[in-house]
Amino acid sequence: MSAPVLELRDVHAAYGRIEVLHGVDLVVPERSVMALLGPNGAGKTTTLKVASGQMQAKSGCVHVAGRHVNGATADELARAGVCAIPEGRGIFPNLTVDENLRMATYSKVPLQQVEERTFDQFPRLKERRNQLAGTMSGGEQQMLAIARALATDPALLMLDELSLGLAPIIVGEL
Ligand SMILES: Nc1ncnc2c1ncn2[C@@H]1O[C@H](COP(=O)(O)OP(=O)(O)OP(=O)(O)O)[C@@H](O)[C@H]1O
Ligand SMILES: [Mg+2]
Repeated sequence: MSAPVLELRDVHAAYGRIEVLHGVDLVVPERSVMALLGPNGAGKTTTLKVASGQMQAKSGCVHVAGRHVNGATADELARAGVCAIPEGRGIFPNLTVDENLRMATYSKVPLQQVEERTFDQFPRLKERRNQLAGTMSGGEQQMLAIARALATDPALLMLDELSLGLAPIIVGEL
């Protein structure tokens, strides 16, 4: 059996002196979908930040695909296949859909492949390819963020607040 794609063991994290993760254990097996639920302030976003290298754990172990990655930076983890979509989507609102997709080619995936995958998965984005991303609906922007992330073929895709502000039918599609 292969190692879980993500494993947190007794992870503690703090903002300054205030600890907000008090020993998180979490295992995400390969080819699985997992939802992390909890009330406001529970530490979901912080967990995602630690797992994607945007924040360092104070103690405990972070493993990606069986490799100990404590101390790795966000860009190192991104190159290792960890992709995090922040709350608020992280697209470029002043660029068109096409231009946003071109940004995904910095990960060395050819543009043609990025476009093929995207328009296959989200035909709606093809209709909107010349539209400024920031003027699209919330659901369409989320589709673009996911499309751009999937184009890089990540081993682990983490989405913060996938459904925030979106209609249930759009959430179903996503
Ligand atoms: N940059 C920060 N500086 C100081 N404290 C922070 C910071 N970010 C988050 N916190 C605190 O850490 C705790 C966990 O926050 P976090 O954002 O991880 O929660 P969450 O589960 O994502 O909540 P929500 O459902 O509201 O998004 C909260 O008490 C929050 O106030
Ligand atoms: Mg949050």
